[in-house]
Amino acid sequence: MRIKTLSVASVLAALAFAPVALAADPAAAAADGKKSGWMQESERDDALHLTPNKDKGREVYEVCSACHMPNGWGLDDGTFPQLAGQHRTVIVKQLADIRAGNRDNPTMYPFALPSEIGGTQSIADVADYIAGLRMTPENGVGPGTDLEHGAKLYADNCVRCHGANGEGDNDKFYPRIQAQHYNYLVRQYQWIKAGKRRNANPDMVKQIQTFTDKDTLAVLDYVSRLKPPAELTAPKGWENPDFK
Ligand code: HEC
Ligand code: HEC
Repeated sequence: MRIKTLSVASVLAALAFAPVALAADPAAAAADGKKSGWMQESERDDALHLTPNKDKGREVYEVCSACHMPNGWGLDDGTFPQLAGQHRTVIVKQLADIRAGNRDNPTMYPFALPSEIGGTQSIADVADYIAGLRMTPENGVGPGTDLEHGAKLYADNCVRCHGANGEGDNDKFYPRIQAQHYNYLVRQYQWIKAGKRRNANPDMVKQIQTFTDKDTLAVLDYVSRLKPPAELTAPKGWENPDFK
């Protein structure tokens, strides 16, 4: 299959231009005619109505594994998010949004295109495969210096959508954020707050506007330490036998 030709060189080439493109400010993006909104036009609903094929999803995931790693854990430093265990609806929505240009991700964009991985069915298939991977027991966490403050902010502001333990909600497209790498959480949160992640939920954007930098780091440090249930967690050092 074509996707097997993804090389380290092509990944590095894609990463090389990422910082420049990611630096674009939201006002400039709006001036470009790029749209904002949580539930924009995309392949999302079509993909969610298809019956997924996990074996095909495994084949598609090979291209993803170059960055998100064969076990789906991403990197502890947050360059690449953990995808393992994420809700199927969230993976479908984010992937469809990235493909449709509703969420900027210049690093990944070329590898998400239909010419690389196939059409809407491939989105359904790979999301099913990823959602079934178990999560890392050792994600990247914050400094741990302000956790009480973080816990209080979380209870008051985040539980109603992301759940008491950061488990999210598959039916509502609310992501699982427990055990996600701290640096990735911080990056996404700041982009959501600033309007740079154009597909963000408007109620969340509103909710977090008064957060100071201190609040932000405290709440996300707390989130990074929330643990998924044991049955969703892989043993330490687990290697995905599908990619050996
Ligand atoms: C060249 C590296 C690269 C490849 C290949 C890649 N991704 Fe990504 N992906 C990223 C990066 C970097 C991010 C985080 C972008 C950001 O910080 O906004 C990301 C983010 C995501 C997200 C959003 C996660 C979230 O929590 O919102 C999903 C879903 C995703 N990727 C799925 C995939 C799938 C499925 C594939 C294979 C078809 C894939 N990616 C291939 C680099 C890659
Ligand atoms: C009104 C519901 C709502 C509230 C309240 C809310 N969020 Fe979110 N959050 C969402 C949704 C929905 C998304 C995914 C947005 C999208 O589809 O692009 C999200 C995305 C995120 C992400 C990015 C996750 C990823 O995988 O990329 C982080 C981090 C996050 N929220 C943290 C928080 C924290 C911390 C709080 C509390 C301070 C909070 N959210 C409050 C609904 C909410």
